[in-house]
Formats: sequence, C-alpha cells, structure tokens
Amino acid sequence: MLLRIERRQVRIGMYVQEVEGDWIDLPLWFRGCRIGDAATLARMRDSRISTLVIDLGKGVGPAETTPFPALRPPLSPAPAAARVPPSPDLEKARATLRRTNAALRQIFRTVHEGRVLDPAQTRAIVDEVAAAMRHRPGALLGITRLKSKDEYSFLHSVAVCALMTHFARFLRLDPVEVQHLGMAGLLHDIGKLTLPEGILGKPEALSEEETRIVRTHPPEGFRLLAGQDVPDVVREVCLHHHERMDGAGYPDGLAGDQLSRAVRMAAICDVYDAVTSVRPYKEAWSAKTAYRRMWSWEGHFDRVLLGQFFRSIGVAGEAARQP
Ligand SMILES: [Fe+2]
Repeated sequence: MLLRIERRQVRIGMYVQEVEGDWIDLPLWFRGCRIGDAATLARMRDSRISTLVIDLGKGVGPAETTPFPALRPPLSPAPAAARVPPSPDLEKARATLRRTNAALRQIFRTVHEGRVLDPAQTRAIVDEVAAAMRHRPGALLGITRLKSKDEYSFLHSVAVCALMTHFARFLRLDPVEVQHLGMAGLLHDIGKLTLPEGILGKPEALSEEETRIVRTHPPEGFRLLAGQDVPDVVREVCLHHHERMDGAGYPDGLAGDQLSRAVRMAAICDVYDAVTSVRPYKEAWSAKTAYRRMWSWEGHFDRVLLGQFFRSIGVAGEAARQP
C-alpha cells in the first residue's frame, strides 16, 4: 500500500517509492530505496522535497500508525490528511506508460520481424509521451529513471523520446520536426533487438568481443528501419547516435559538421538518460552531477546544444549560461 507523507514524518525503516517537489533538484537516491540509517534520514529531512510516497509493504509507516497499532486502540483515527491517494501526476504518468508499453513492444516486434510498421501508431505514441512530458515531466522521468533489466529498453526508449521532444520544443523547432525527433528518440536503439540475450544489461564489464557486438546495434537498427515508412531523420539518428564531435564515436567516426543537429541532440538525450537511470548495479547520477560530468567530457558533445539541453531541464550553471 502506498501512502503519502510529509517530509517531517520520515523515519528509519521506511521504503521511499517516490518523492515530490522540484523534480530536477531531487537526488536520485531518495527514490526506490529504504531509509537505513540516521545519516540518510538527516539528508532527507534537510532536503527541499515537500512530500514522499512510501510503500508500507516494503517498510515501516509513519509514527502515527506504528508500532503495533492493533494492540491498543488509537486515541483518535489516523490523520485523514496522511492517507491520501497517490499523486494524480504519478498515476497519470503510470497510465501513459502502461498504454505506451504495449504499443511500443508491438512496434519493436513488427520491425524485428521485418513486417511493415504503421506510422500512425508510432506517431500516436510520440504524441502521448510528448504530452505527458509537457504536463508532468517530473512524474514521467521519475518513473522512467527506475529501470529493471526487463524494462530497460522500453523505458529508455520512452525517456529519450520524452527528452527529445522536450528539448526540441525548448529550441522552438517546428512541431513536425519535434514529432520526428521524438520518433527518432523512440526508435534510436531498435538495433539492440538483434543483440544476443545476456549482453544487454550485463552488470560486469563487457569483453572486447561483447563490446564489438554491442557496437553493431546502430547499423543493425538502420538496416531494420531501411524499408520502413519513417522520416529520414529517424534512420539517421538510429545510425549515428553514438558518434562524437571529436570523431571518436562509432560506427563511422564522423565528426563536427558531419553530425546533424538531430544526431547531436540524440547523443545528449541518450547519455543523459543512461547516466541518470537507477539500475541495480550502478550509481545513478543526479541531474546536476550529469551536467557537471557531461560538461567535462571534452570532444564528446556539441557544447552549445549541451548547455541548451541542461537549461531546458532546469539545471542552471556557468556552463549552461554559455551560448
Ligand atoms: Fe544506442
């Protein structure tokens, strides 16, 4: 059972499902974790979050309802304000992802089996994800950050789609271009369908041979989309989203002006979602840490677009203020 509580009610032993507040400033360790010690408790109490959703099935409740409430009659009923349904935004974002999940899996299967894709179906998903990102970005990205092995491909695709449409709107691009970029985000990793089971999501470092195999996914994705009725930019992003500005990327080692704006945007959104994702085997960076570290990677990204991207998601800073 999920229960929303105020920050002052937090205590050791609670399992925090979600936090609510200014989404971009929330440290990721606040989500999907148990409060196990006094230091974590203190950090949470000192944070700027307003309310939290805790899972009573995975941890203790607030002091008002524990310990052993059945052993003595309560002096008064539990405060009604503490028992509220989950946030409407979270519920709506989950509903979006439930609908999108089924449709996107069908699209992946269709492309993988070489059957013809219905472009209207892809457009409908992009429109739904873009609308969710417009109205409840914190809830949508909060959920997509938590990626289990089984759901990684789906949630990463949705997250990159959401970030691409958000970024494109921030850049005031034409609505049709926004939709095409969203579609590119949704399908950019479709070549991973061709990779052997066991390589994707592998917690240990990949061997040289496994790395070589993983690096085939951009051209494989391009090949899968070759006969499909999708905008050219979708195939282009699929093929080149792992290229770098300094030419050290793959598969073609393109550099600088050889990379279109769409490809440069996708490279940023793709890496941002990967590094801020919560996975069982790695640290998830906060938005600000991602900003600091991605900015320090010389030659990787288009610096102007990188600054604009972080400005678009509300991360301010010296670098983001540069043109
Ligand atoms: Fe990729």
